[in-house]
Amino acid sequence: MKYPKEYLQEIKTRLKISTVVSKTVSLKKRGKEYVGLSPFKTEKTPSFTVNDEKEFYHCFSTAEHGNIFDFVMKTQNFKFGESVKYLANLAGMRPYTFSKEDQIREEKWSKYKLIYAKYVEFYHKDLFKNPVAKNAKDYLKNRGLTIDEVKKFKIGYVSNEENFKEDIFKEFSESEIKDTGLFYFDENKKKYVDRFRDRVIFPINNISGDPIALGGRILNDNKYLAKYINSPETPFFKKGSNLYNLDLTRKLSNTINNIYLVEGYMDVVGLSKNKVDNVVANLGTSLTTRQIFTLNQFFQHIIVCFDGDDSGYKAALRAAENSIIELKPEKEISFLFLPDNHDPDSFVNEKGKEFFEVFSKSNSVPIHKFLFNHYSKDLDKSPSSRAIFEKKLRLISSTIKDEFIKKYVLEYFLEKVSELTPNTNLKYKKNYLKPTRSLKSTQNYYNETKSLKAIDIKEFSFLYVLLKRPDLIRDNINLIENVKLFTSENKLLFEEIINQTNNFENYDFENLNVDMNLIDRVYKYASIKHILVKNLKDDQKILEILSELVRDLKNYELELRITDLESRFSKDLSEATFNELKELKKQQKIN
Ligand code: GTP
Ligand code: MN
Repeated sequence: MKYPKEYLQEIKTRLKISTVVSKTVSLKKRGKEYVGLSPFKTEKTPSFTVNDEKEFYHCFSTAEHGNIFDFVMKTQNFKFGESVKYLANLAGMRPYTFSKEDQIREEKWSKYKLIYAKYVEFYHKDLFKNPVAKNAKDYLKNRGLTIDEVKKFKIGYVSNEENFKEDIFKEFSESEIKDTGLFYFDENKKKYVDRFRDRVIFPINNISGDPIALGGRILNDNKYLAKYINSPETPFFKKGSNLYNLDLTRKLSNTINNIYLVEGYMDVVGLSKNKVDNVVANLGTSLTTRQIFTLNQFFQHIIVCFDGDDSGYKAALRAAENSIIELKPEKEISFLFLPDNHDPDSFVNEKGKEFFEVFSKSNSVPIHKFLFNHYSKDLDKSPSSRAIFEKKLRLISSTIKDEFIKKYVLEYFLEKVSELTPNTNLKYKKNYLKPTRSLKSTQNYYNETKSLKAIDIKEFSFLYVLLKRPDLIRDNINLIENVKLFTSENKLLFEEIINQTNNFENYDFENLNVDMNLIDRVYKYASIKHILVKNLKDDQKILEILSELVRDLKNYELELRITDLESRFSKDLSEATFNELKELKKQQKIN
């Protein structure tokens, strides 16, 4: 049996080819494409290209090319069916099972889509041509919408005339129509009625752009009617799985890293009118981890921007607690709070795109800071309040799935919490600093020189370069910023050097706040010194040497992480661990 096109298409639309490929090949962006080393042959210069828009990869050295399914089949030796299963899982979809029911469902789905498409098209056109739609047109005009937005979002108006109902009931069966939720059966009148009558309608599309539900707004606020209604849950529309405007926005993901997540239809439309197109809405329901997962497939940075009122704040808090679970090392989630009584729509209409974007840049708060700030608000000095506070923060970080993020979020929280207990800290700090301050212990360390490991010597060499050419380091600080050292003494020295470099115009390493013996040790054991002495004036050469040292140190870190993961994998045998492991090994190869 063949997989339905629909299902395969859904996989393709959910997964960018670069996302899939970059699980095994390290890619760099070049113009509209990505390039990397070919997975089909060993090579030194990249000849492998990936194009998200065209949804294919091409290898210039082997002439291999294809789509995501081909890629997975070729690189993982999968059959087609296996690649579909693997990718569906990656896309967060259920595995496809072929059964009679599936076939029926498949047929229902095509009818469902057809009904929605016709309905949306009909009432969109009707808005322009039906005289009874005048009020609706005026309403949209008053809200500042132009024909452009109305067309882009296929906004419509369902009048009371029921003029579409007849047609649809001729063409489709009652159960097919019932499935859509567009009509409900009125027991008193004994007939089907339009759920969205006398409302402006906003089609909600699935990720491929098919309308699968509607939102409808009344024209005049009225205390007896809900301001907005949505389609009910149907066999093909589940709340919490869809995002309004994702179908259009995902196409921008190659050029834009961040996505605004707002509450309402009008926020999306208003931002779009002001040329902020990277925006989706979760439609007033609480944000789900599924929605975060979907957004993460396309964007690096999610900026949650809810209304600047009490309920917007509460919704943001709930969103933060739900979404921190999905936080990944290469992804960010931030929160943007608007001034009182503004929502994104009103704010951008008043201030314009540029202001909105600058405001967003300078005011969004990373998720962990937002949560910390929130819970520290009701904190008082009582031990009980503080204990509850710490427990809450520990609980939040424990929900995070990614082990690395979990560790660092917890570290951030605990660091902040430790500021509440300065006395305990003092003791801790004293003990911590003692070994490096005391001459005697350092001398003991000296005596152990025979036990120096290769990594120690590497670290000494690295520090040696820093100490010898501080001027060069200051101009190339990006080269060393992410380096991690392992020996605690070396770490301390490294931190001090960085501090000095950042703090002063003219730094003076004689005044480093560390035991001078540490520095002596570096001078004594850095194996690089013989080479360096000859080239001390040759900036280019020194930078080369430094890059090589940095690479070796990073590889050592990778090595440690790999060993760690391997032992985890042997215990949990989970696919996630395995994939992470594979990723790291690949990185190690490339370095
Ligand atoms: P406008 O008054 O049209 O500007 O609305 P808004 O887009 O600013 O909406 P609001 O901030 O009041 O609500 C945000 C979102 O929550 C809306 O877009 C709807 O999806 C949803 N919502 C608001 N009111 C209702 C309601 O009465 N019922 C339901 N089901 N959803 C609502
Ligand atoms: Mn609003």
